[in-house]
Amino acid sequence: MQNKAAVDMLVSPIGELVTSASDSGLLKGSELAEVRRIKDAAIAVKDGKIIAVGTAFEVAGQVEVTATTRIVDATGLLVTPGLVDPHTHLVFDGNRANEFLMRCQGKSYAEIAEAGGGIVASMRATRGATQERLVALGRKRLAKMLDCGTTTCEIKTGYGLDLDSELTMLAAIVELSSTQALEIVPTFMPAHAVPPQMDRGDYVRSIVKDMLPAASRMVTDKGLFAFADVFCDRGYFTLEDTETIFAAAQSLGFGLKVHADEFVNLGATTLAVRCGAASCDHLLNVSDEEIKLLAQSNTVAVLLPGTSFFLNLSEHARARRMIEEGVAVSLGSDFNPGSCHIFSLPLIWGLACLHLKFTAAEALNALTVNAAYALGKGEKIGRLSPGYQADITIYDVSCLEEIPYNLGANPVSFVIKRGIVVRAPEEHLPA
Ligand code: NIG
Ligand code: FE
Repeated sequence: MQNKAAVDMLVSPIGELVTSASDSGLLKGSELAEVRRIKDAAIAVKDGKIIAVGTAFEVAGQVEVTATTRIVDATGLLVTPGLVDPHTHLVFDGNRANEFLMRCQGKSYAEIAEAGGGIVASMRATRGATQERLVALGRKRLAKMLDCGTTTCEIKTGYGLDLDSELTMLAAIVELSSTQALEIVPTFMPAHAVPPQMDRGDYVRSIVKDMLPAASRMVTDKGLFAFADVFCDRGYFTLEDTETIFAAAQSLGFGLKVHADEFVNLGATTLAVRCGAASCDHLLNVSDEEIKLLAQSNTVAVLLPGTSFFLNLSEHARARRMIEEGVAVSLGSDFNPGSCHIFSLPLIWGLACLHLKFTAAEALNALTVNAAYALGKGEKIGRLSPGYQADITIYDVSCLEEIPYNLGANPVSFVIKRGIVVRAPEEHLPA
């Protein structure tokens, strides 16, 4: 008889476990709705990875519980893969509450930006901040995300907009990646806005010549992989700028992402698919032809329903059309100081159901499997299957559908990252 593996952690019993129906691959079209629901379930973890998943009875037959095994009792609770946030601008100083209230009085995002607000207002606040301060602010926000079940989070630069300040932001993101529990994916985004008093062409040339190479050295020194992102939209960067920046970034080994078609369609999605970008984000004005291009590619569509909600727009991304056409659709928070100050993925889940017409199951797969693929981590995280990292979010609800229904409340009770309990209700904390 085969020896049973001694496990470090056993999450058992579990009220109900929900994860993608398939054990690998990007989820396109109708696959997005396919989940496996196991009642009275269990997950066994060893060395930070999942080694067995099934009913509590099945798992008990496969593993050995020792005196050192940590048992997490999830009786009556719902368990999913740890949530993945593939799009945030989490590191910045200052805030733009004034802009939110101006929008409530009828001003648009573009009008506020033209009057000196917007990304440039956050640039002014962020340029004065030390790396230490940016890390402290970032740590506080990441702790709130973790409380709401996020276990992996992408973070973009883009409020420095000059060489030194962009590198300070990137250094802060890199420092956060090794000094708190969430897994961080860095994205270098000096092409977030053209800094005031600077010619756009000159700025793009400095991004290509100085900023991208310096950023590449910083992440390579730390053994990290990073993405580069461009805000390709009216008043920000042109399609030509985006193409120039993509070519430079790609030759330095960056993965590609793009803020595409948020306000107007400049052709960013067509370009991004051609360049093999990991994701196209926002997509409010993506064309029917580009939806077909996305469907034929492995580029993930990252939809950000928090942003259209926070900007009080009446239009939202055409998620149903994308899903019907076979696009790999994901969801993110877009947490940032201006257009979406929402860090909770359970709230984004509710907004995805309300405004993008997702089902609860589709939103789960979008926030786990496809979000992981948007970060190039789809083979490691996003599923509760043997071999995947033990990233687990546990909610105090009885079924998946209660997560979006609890709109605005935090349903999360435990969070496990790489097999370690990093959030637990007080009564479960070790004495
Ligand atoms: O994703 N669209 C561009 N960037 C952000 C907005 C950032 C800001 O307003 O500070 C976004 O919505
Ligand atoms: Fe964004």
